[in-house]
Amino acid sequence: MRIHILDSYEEMSIKAASIVASQIILKPDSVLGLATGSTPLGMYAQLVEMFRNKRIDFREVKTFNLDEYLGLAPDHPQSYNYYMNENFFQKVNVPRENINIPPGNPENIDTACLSYDRAIKEAREIDIQVLGVGTNGHIGFNEPDFKLKTETHVVNLTRETIESNSRFFASADDVPRRAISMGMGSIMRANKILLMASGANKAEVIRKTVSGEITTEVPASLLQLHPEVILVLDKEAGSYLD
Ligand code: F6R
Repeated sequence: MRIHILDSYEEMSIKAASIVASQIILKPDSVLGLATGSTPLGMYAQLVEMFRNKRIDFREVKTFNLDEYLGLAPDHPQSYNYYMNENFFQKVNVPRENINIPPGNPENIDTACLSYDRAIKEAREIDIQVLGVGTNGHIGFNEPDFKLKTETHVVNLTRETIESNSRFFASADDVPRRAISMGMGSIMRANKILLMASGANKAEVIRKTVSGEITTEVPASLLQLHPEVILVLDKEAGSYLD
């Protein structure tokens, strides 16, 4: 793993955006795996800025988002579809038809999971997968468990994730209990992984990700098996690393 520890959230966002931008400059038709949550917000803002300054062009880029809450329509303000449009897609030029986000209200969930995986396979490879990490070690919504799924699937969110994500909703009762998530296989098959973390509450999970036991109970620890992982952390998130 290559680890970058930056002094502030802003510097961390600039570093992550530069890594994604370099990928697109080197390969304009890159396939990006994208995450939501609070951590990558600054990175998206930097990428939008670079696009406005004509330093990057997303015309040939294709994207796959990691996850979506089940039961939320795309125009629900807490849906990840809405988040991506607000923070990124409506501000850059990724063609609509190149944007893939799991549906929150599919007619048939099994078919939706299968067709998401088919679309990923048709894209051939994810060049760079952006990840955040839950305090419990989840990546995407692959929650700690005694076994993990490789393909896109429905997840029952853990109490810790519901509590943690309740900050975006009126109360924990409003947080959807289920989500649809890309599986560990699709994440691990990405050519490169860029994992971002910010804040002291992520320090312990980052220590486990980098040097803890490799266990499905901490899904992020499986990244130790991936040949090309870049960690971009602020100093609080990196504070338990040697
Ligand atoms: C979101 C996602 C989640 C988040 C994680 C951290 O698409 O896949 O794994 O990355 O829950 O969320 P934040 O960044 O809000 O701490």
